[in-house]
This record gives sequence, structure tokens and C-alpha cells, in this order.
Amino acid sequence: MPQSRHAIQSVDARHDVVRVVQLTDTHLCHSRGGTLLGMDTDHSLQAVIDLVKKERPAVDLLLGTGDLADGGAGPAYERLQQYFDQLTSDNYWLPGNHDSRAKMEAAASSDMRLCREIRAGCWQILLLDSQVHGQVGGSLGATELEFLERALQIALQQGLHTLVCLHHQPVVIGCDWLDQQMVSDAAAFFVVLDRHPGVRGVLWGHVHQEIDRQRNGVRLLASPSTCVQFAAGSAKFKADDQPPGYRWLDLHNDGRIETAVSRVRDTKFVVELDSGGYL
Ligand SMILES: [Fe+2]
Repeated sequence: MPQSRHAIQSVDARHDVVRVVQLTDTHLCHSRGGTLLGMDTDHSLQAVIDLVKKERPAVDLLLGTGDLADGGAGPAYERLQQYFDQLTSDNYWLPGNHDSRAKMEAAASSDMRLCREIRAGCWQILLLDSQVHGQVGGSLGATELEFLERALQIALQQGLHTLVCLHHQPVVIGCDWLDQQMVSDAAAFFVVLDRHPGVRGVLWGHVHQEIDRQRNGVRLLASPSTCVQFAAGSAKFKADDQPPGYRWLDLHNDGRIETAVSRVRDTKFVVELDSGGYL
């Protein structure tokens, strides 16, 4: 495991809140102009970034929560970095089931791009790896859970609030086909979280739809993809015609998370709604 996976990255929050943007499931293809269910994923990502520039001019850090490349191709990560750098050089990536960690590391301009922990203001942001090589579904495993426990103990000692990020969803969301892919050891994950009252939120990608719930006072958040969306409450794979979007999060010093999703409303996007699947 590279050294960067153990290092802590510090980010200067320039305001009295930490201003975070999450871009997830960008699914960039090998070459510019590649499509997912008929949608040009470079075009949709640039449209989302233009929206972020308009709505969130001061971004402290950007989180890319997996499925950043559709097929784990190196050129996709090189373009990803150029896109993300338009918003801030403080952008951090974690892998999803479509990603290649090796290609991500090779393409990243900084070792810190794939760090496990960020400190910003009164906040600790943890980036967990739920990817299982060769599988669509997610799992954390002993290494990630032990890291989580250790990091949360330090946060407790230092009085930090924590936002935990990963790719796969740790809860049932009501889409049968996606629920089969949730984090397989989610029960053990929540046992760790429940020991640590400083955890304020859990943030993930993978489900290509907006979720905002509470569990034991912890905010559970999922977000739209920057390209194709999935229909909520669907037993089988079903794409949705909602536009590409992103989530912003303002992390307050007192532990509050202010957050919302925003979508690109002024552009028409093509999506093959009758497709049987995308995996
Ligand atoms: Fe995805």
C-alpha cells in the first residue's frame, strides 16, 4: 500500500465553514466524447462543473467518490484531473467498482490525491475504499474498519467532527438491484460508527440518486451522478431522466452539515431510458 494511503492531508478552510463539493460517478470513458447509455460523460461533467463555478465560487475541497472512470482507463483519470482542477487543486478521489486504483494512482499529479484522511477546520474527512476487485458490490473488510476505528479514536481525542466517505451505499435504499450491491459488512461499519459520537455524516456515490436521511443523529447522504441517473424505488435497473448534478456541503464548526443537491437545468442531455442495464 503506498505511503499516501496512511498520510493525513491538511486543507486550509478559508471561511468559518468548510466548503465541500462532491462530484460522483463521473464515468469518464477512455476517450473524450465516450458515452454511457447514450450520454457524453465528458460533456455532462463539464456542464456540472460550470454549474458549480456559478453556484459555489469558493470551494475548499472537492471529493470524487468513485466510478470516476467508466472502465478504469488511464486517459480518463488524466482528463478527470483537468476537470477537477478547474474548481480546486484540493481534490481527492476514492475508488468505485468501475475504477482501477493502479491507474488512478498513476494518473494523479499528487500522492495525496488518494489519501485516506483530510483535516479541514474542525473536521476530519475519511475516505474509505469499498471496492472489491472484480465485483460490482462493495465491502470494507478488516483493514478499512480498523483504520476507521483508529481514526475515529484520534478524532475523539482531538474534538473533531467526522464525515465518512465511501463509494458503495451502507444502507438499503429501496432499489432491489442496487441493494444487492450495498456494503456487505455494513453492520460492522455501523458498530464502529455507533461508538463515536463525533461522526456527523456518511457520504457515498454508486446509487446515482439523491438520498438524505438520519440514523442515530448521523446524516446519511447519497448524490446524483454527473452523468446518468438511476430511478428511485425501482426493483430492476432503470435509468431516470433527471439531469446530471452534484452535492455541496457546508461543514460548520459546531458539527452541523448544511447540504443540498443541484442539477444542470438549462441543457438537454440524451439518455437511453429503455436500456436494460449498464454494468
Ligand atoms: Fe456509478
